[in-house]
Parts: sequence; C-alpha cells; structure tokens
Amino acid sequence: MSSSAEFVASSPILVTGGCGFIGANFVLDWMRHETSPLVNLDALTYAGNPENLAALADEPRYTFVHGDITDSELLRELFARHRPRAVVHFAAESHVDRSIHGPDAFLRTNIDGTFRLLQAAREHYASLEGEVRAAFRFLHVSTDEVYGTLEPEDAAFSETTPYAPNSPYAASKASSDLLVRAWHHTYALPTLITNCSNNYGQYQFPEKLIPLTIANALAGKPLPVYGDGQQVRDWLFVEDHCTAIRRVLSSGRLGETYNIGGNNQRANLDVVKTICSLLDELRPGAKPYAEQIRFVEDRPGHDRRYAIDATKIERELGWQPAHTFPTGLRATVEWYLANAAWIENVMSGEYLHWIERNYAGREVKA
Ligand code: NAD
Ligand code: TYD
Repeated sequence: MSSSAEFVASSPILVTGGCGFIGANFVLDWMRHETSPLVNLDALTYAGNPENLAALADEPRYTFVHGDITDSELLRELFARHRPRAVVHFAAESHVDRSIHGPDAFLRTNIDGTFRLLQAAREHYASLEGEVRAAFRFLHVSTDEVYGTLEPEDAAFSETTPYAPNSPYAASKASSDLLVRAWHHTYALPTLITNCSNNYGQYQFPEKLIPLTIANALAGKPLPVYGDGQQVRDWLFVEDHCTAIRRVLSSGRLGETYNIGGNNQRANLDVVKTICSLLDELRPGAKPYAEQIRFVEDRPGHDRRYAIDATKIERELGWQPAHTFPTGLRATVEWYLANAAWIENVMSGEYLHWIERNYAGREVKA
C-alpha cells in the first residue's frame, strides 16, 4: 500500500450527528464504501437513535462518542485522541416546526455548536503538517432553506442565490454556513459546504412529512396537510445525498459550496396522496388511506417552494441522483412497513408530547 493509501485507511473521519436520519444513513453508507474508520459524536437528542447503527456493534472501524458539539473541552480531547483526517458535520436541530415553537436549541446547536466545532477543527488543523495537513477537510452539511422561498416561475436555487432564510431553523443554518465561510477565508480552514434539498428514506424521524404520513396512515390517524398543500419541495432519496457528500469530501474544491438536489419538485398534497396509494397497494385497509387527509392551519411563514439547481456538482464532480422519486418512495414505504418496531420505539413520551404541541392547537380546515 502507498503511504497516502495507508493514511486514508488508518485515519478516521469525525462525523457529528451520526445517529440522526441522514447521519445514520451516511455512517452505514461509509462503512459499505470506504476503508477509513469513523468516529461518531452525537448528543442523542430526541432525534438521535443509536439503534439506527446497531448493525455496527461489532465493527472495529466504528467508534461512538456520546457528547455535545457545544462542549469545547470534549471536542479538543476528541481531536487530540482520534486525529481525524476530516470532519463531516451533520449535528443540528433540524425541524422547522420545532424551531417555531422553541428557537433556543436551534441557536445553541446550529450556531454555537458549529462555532465551537470550527474552533476545535482549526486548532487541530494548526497541529498538522505535510500530507496530513493537505488532506484535512471540514465538510458542513446544510440545507436549501437558507435561500428562502421561490415563486412558481422563479429559477431554482444556485450556489450564488442570495441567502434569505425565513424560519428560525433556516436562519440558524444560514448563520452556521456563514461561520464556515468566514473560517475558510480568515483562517484558511479547508472547508466545504453542501446545501441539500428535502431528504427522504429509512430512519427519518416521524415528525417530518413523509414518515409522519406513513405512521399516521397506518395508525388510522389524520394526515395533516398544512394550508392548501400546494407548497413545493425538491425531494432527494437519502442514499443519493450520502453519495454526493462522499463525492464532495473526496473531490470538492476548497472553500466552495455545492448544491445537492433531486431535480424532483412535488407539491405536498401530491406526496401525501402518492404515499396513500402506495399503502393502499401494499397494506390495504377497509377504506382508501386518502380519506384520512385533513387540511390544517398553515405553518407560520411557510416557504412556498424550494428547488435546487444541481448543475455545479454534476459538472464538477459528476454526481447525479441514482434514484427516482417513485422507486425511492416505494422503497421508503416498504422500509417503514417492515420496521414497525422502529417507529414504535422512537414514538417516545417526548414524541407524543411534541405531536400534542404542534397539532392540538391547529384548526382543521377540511
Ligand atoms: P436529525 O434531526 O434527524 O438528526 C440530527 C442529529 O444530530 C441527531 O442524531 C441528534 O442527536 C444530533 N444532535 C443534535 N444536537 C446535537 C448536539 N448539540 N451535539 C451533538 N449532536 C447533536 O437531522 P437530519 O435530518 O439527519 O439532518 C442532518 C443534517 O442535514 C442537519 O444539519 C440538517 O440541517 C441537514 N439537512 C437535512 C435535510 C433533511 O431533509 N432532513 C436536508 C438538507 C440538509
Ligand atoms: P418537513 O418534512 O417538515 O420539511 P421542511 O419543512 O424542512 O420542508 O415538511 C415538508 C413540507 O410538508 C413542508 O412544506 C411542510 C409540510 N408539512 C405538512 O403539510 N404537514 C405536516 O404535518 C408536516 C410535518 C409538514
């Protein structure tokens, strides 16, 4: 083995938030495709579920660390002990509705946490030399929501679209992106930023539209559609996002941002109806599931449309989504049907409390 191949095979990457939805998919994907060890730092909030990575219990390349990204001392210790060759930063508070009810945790984790992680990475980077220093990367995983909202005829978000976040979640992610940008320009930290559209797939917490619809449909509960249901999102299968992140990590240009999207714009109501049709086929009930759809009061400040122009990552790094929405959504519905115990386990007391807070006060329109 050449010395650089040996370095890659032996130096771990540090992942934050690896027990969440995209993080867990990424960790599993990494273990399937890469040789390096991986250290996963996760605070195990309501959204973090170590069960997602139970398959790695005997995997010697995998290390789990239970801790918070706002803990600078822990971060310093982690970097000193593991000497990671890269950081892939997923850890965040990620749900818009929760950010409306309680923005504090979003500012704490998404802004302060990212700041502290950047500082620890910078200190670590300063201690590196030669090839090891040249190889170091800090990849920040972000969202298309930083760009705000689009009218139906507007062009999709590109990497040069001005930031215009509208929710506390989007504002906190936009802030973290700007910190990463500044750490690159001021301290020459070798950073990369990815801004991705809505993901769906296995292990997504049932507070987000697609898993919530599946879980509620199966439980015979109402399927809440905010406002008129004509808000558009650009859905990407999570495995495609993981592939894109690995591609940006290995070949992205330093200091650059890459937009990642599914080229797949759908109105929420269509998504909910498609899930109902899939369930009618795969788990037929007494009545069509679509009869459970209820239009409820809209989300305050609800962004009307998101769409990503992914030309840059396609042109520079040759990435394109491998999955279509019909195949990805079918696989997702099948996964939730086959993993009823997973849904039951994550629907803890805290989850039920959230459902009460978010939906009980909402007027049902139809
Ligand atoms: P998630 O809410 O499912 O998981 C977040 C994870 O971060 C959890 O495991 C949680 O325990 C951990 N975490 C939270 N606060 C922490 C802290 N202070 N210290 C350490 N760990 C902490 O989120 P997700 O949907 O997997 O999103 C992951 C990342 O991708 C986020 O940064 C999000 O902004 C971004 N993103 C998500 C989507 C999407 O559609 N879900 C789309 C684009 C970008
Ligand atoms: P969500 O999955 O929360 O992702 P985001 O807000 O980050 O786009 O919501 C996706 C879309 O679905 C969004 O337009 C809000 C809408 N939505 C509903 O109509 N009903 C619901 O119960 C939820 C959770 C979301």
